[in-house]
Amino acid sequence: MSTQSRSKFLATLDGHVTSTPPVWLMRQAGRYLPEYREIRAKAPSFLDFCYDPQLASEATVQPIERFGFDAAILFSDILVVPDALGQHVRFETGEGPRLTPISNAADLKALRETSDQGKMSRVYEAVERVRARLPQDVALIGFCGAPWTVATYMIAGQGTSDQAPTRRFAYEQADVFKALIDRLVHVSIEHLVQQLKAGAQAVQIFDSWAGVLPIAEFERWCLAPVLAIAKGVRAQVPNAKIIAFPRGSGVNLPQFEISDDIQALGLDTSIDPHWAARHIDRKMVLQGNLDPLALLAGGRGLDEAIDRILTAFRGRAHIFNLGHGILPPTPIPHVEHLLRRIRAG
Ligand code: CP3
Repeated sequence: MSTQSRSKFLATLDGHVTSTPPVWLMRQAGRYLPEYREIRAKAPSFLDFCYDPQLASEATVQPIERFGFDAAILFSDILVVPDALGQHVRFETGEGPRLTPISNAADLKALRETSDQGKMSRVYEAVERVRARLPQDVALIGFCGAPWTVATYMIAGQGTSDQAPTRRFAYEQADVFKALIDRLVHVSIEHLVQQLKAGAQAVQIFDSWAGVLPIAEFERWCLAPVLAIAKGVRAQVPNAKIIAFPRGSGVNLPQFEISDDIQALGLDTSIDPHWAARHIDRKMVLQGNLDPLALLAGGRGLDEAIDRILTAFRGRAHIFNLGHGILPPTPIPHVEHLLRRIRAG
């Protein structure tokens, strides 16, 4: 295939160094876009929106049409997985997710072993619709939450700042917690494989809360399950491209090199790009890691932050992204400016 029609994002995931890096932004579809807010009002709840193939595919494509990013990420949420396992999940406006907490073995037993395909098939239909609408050279990314991060919401029943309820649960009821993580590994493999079969060309595993764990727990609850998912996905889709985003894992990042099933590592805002370029094996493609607040603020601080990242990763396979999701008050002209500056080389 000619490099013209081939996606720059996929070429980079294959290890090629392009003249300027491909770019997409975590949470690039969403509330900072007026066209998203307009269609969001058409669904009674956020989960209804996620399960509506027409609305979810429209939201996925919106940032591509407006900005021309190199990749689209499916519009969905990591919490469709607990919802499809039968846990009660809802999103309170302005407050974030609320779930009926899993407190013991009986609560876990009450969940399904596998996801409700009646719900999940609508997510895969959204993937199909998006792929049919995207230009050839725009890649489509599917995703799931990593088991640890999804479990923090399942056990606390909501987001917390330090994940203390789930860390405590993992110590006090280690066997139950292991069974929950194993179930999430299993259903996440299935979820990613289905997205890849429906037309996603790469998948990202979001471990947003990897950074709160001591090393032994990090290895057991973050690293091992993410590697197990990557292995399980590639057993079914041999050349699947997998990006791990273990947010906050700092100096533990090189541990992901032991797997050949992960092609790229997402770097969070706290990682020094020069450190990453020096200490992470070149077989790993690196993605990141502009501070979302720098993008929100704009001006000289933004330009300096962009240039520091571009300089650090020059000569290396790098996907430009934020270090975490775009913030809702981010001005649209700042995103346009970001793309122009990156593509100017
Ligand atoms: O990146 C994208 O554009 C694709 C869509 C996407 C969403 N959530 C849409 C969303 C993705 C990839 C996610 C992942 C996600 N969801 C993560 C991992 C990444 C991260 O941010 O750490 C987590 C932890 C969640 C769980 C979640 N979903 C929370 C905590 C919240 C509430 C906080 C918030 O930002 O509102 C959500 C809701 C959510 N997910 C919204 C969107 C656009 C906002 C809901 C709305 O539009 O009303």
